[in-house]
Amino acid sequence: MFESLFNRNTKERVESTPAEGMGMPPSSQVDAESKTSIIAIANQKGGCGKTTTCINLSAALARMGLRILMIDLDAQSQASLGIGIDADAMEYSIYDVMVNNLELERAVVPTDIGNLDIVPASAMLTGAQLEIANLLGREWILRTSLHKMINTQTRKYDYVIMDCSPSLNLTTINGLASAQFILIPAQTHYFSLEGMKELFSTIKIVKERLNPPLQILGILPTLYDIRTRISRQILGQMRNHFGDKVFKTAIHTNIKLVEAQVHKKSIYEFAPNSNGARDYLALSEEVVSRTCPESNPVNQKEKADEIEDLMQGRILSKASYDR
Ligand SMILES: Nc1ncnc2c1ncn2[C@@H]1O[C@H](COP(=O)(O)OP(=O)(O)O)[C@@H](O)[C@H]1O
Ligand SMILES: [Mg+2]
Repeated sequence: MFESLFNRNTKERVESTPAEGMGMPPSSQVDAESKTSIIAIANQKGGCGKTTTCINLSAALARMGLRILMIDLDAQSQASLGIGIDADAMEYSIYDVMVNNLELERAVVPTDIGNLDIVPASAMLTGAQLEIANLLGREWILRTSLHKMINTQTRKYDYVIMDCSPSLNLTTINGLASAQFILIPAQTHYFSLEGMKELFSTIKIVKERLNPPLQILGILPTLYDIRTRISRQILGQMRNHFGDKVFKTAIHTNIKLVEAQVHKKSIYEFAPNSNGARDYLALSEEVVSRTCPESNPVNQKEKADEIEDLMQGRILSKASYDR
């Protein structure tokens, strides 16, 4: 299904904009000196912890004194609501950026957390898919807008962190086309691993057709319950198959993370001493070390091979697990 969506979108684009060649991105890039890292949190599996990770990783990084912009790309607006922003009460949302050509910085709103701003989503985003479907360059609307904001430094951020929806709609594609990194939360359950192959093939197509420098920042084991054998086995399998692409940090199942979201707070405002707070702090340290240029020498050939490896031999087979 994803493949056919891509074929449709990309084919039309190539035909309609021959001057841009084989559907490759326009010249928009982040200036090297801007030092902003752009991370898309994505997985087509729902309920694997994307939104929880977006909120609490952003909050953990903000606590380190880093300047963070969250962008909510899901029409359900759970990242916005979960951090106390009622998107419908705001003047603008990401919808206006995608559909009405609004400058991204005009849709930015501060949160109650220092150093943490957000561009909220709204339910209207669902309709945006159709509204931008026939636009020239529809896959790069967000990229152009985001890179312009970063390069002109109208607002300065160390990290831009995007919460993608579970479907591979045009908004998600815009997110993946804008990002330097993709962070993949994966439940430590059998079925989410099965979906990995499909996800890697999506990433491969995005790299080939939209965003060649996109790198996998890491696979994040979520909803890890150390008491269950299945959780332990799946985590072991993830590490065996995907090696150091799996973050050292696993996010344990922790009810405080659910409660924090219900109270529209990050885990650091709601339960700073919880395991959830500790896990996301550990993750934020790993994210910083994986994104800082010194520890992350860019070798595009290696990166391309890496995705090929993940796709070819090293994907989990349908092993039957001892439950
Ligand atoms: N580590 C965790 N422990 C307990 N519940 C979690 C954890 N991570 C996420 N959840 C809960 O699981 C549900 C799905 O998580 P969410 O982050 O919304 O996933 P996604 O955005 O991928 O759909 C939410 O109710 C959330 O509160
Ligand atoms: Mg979500």
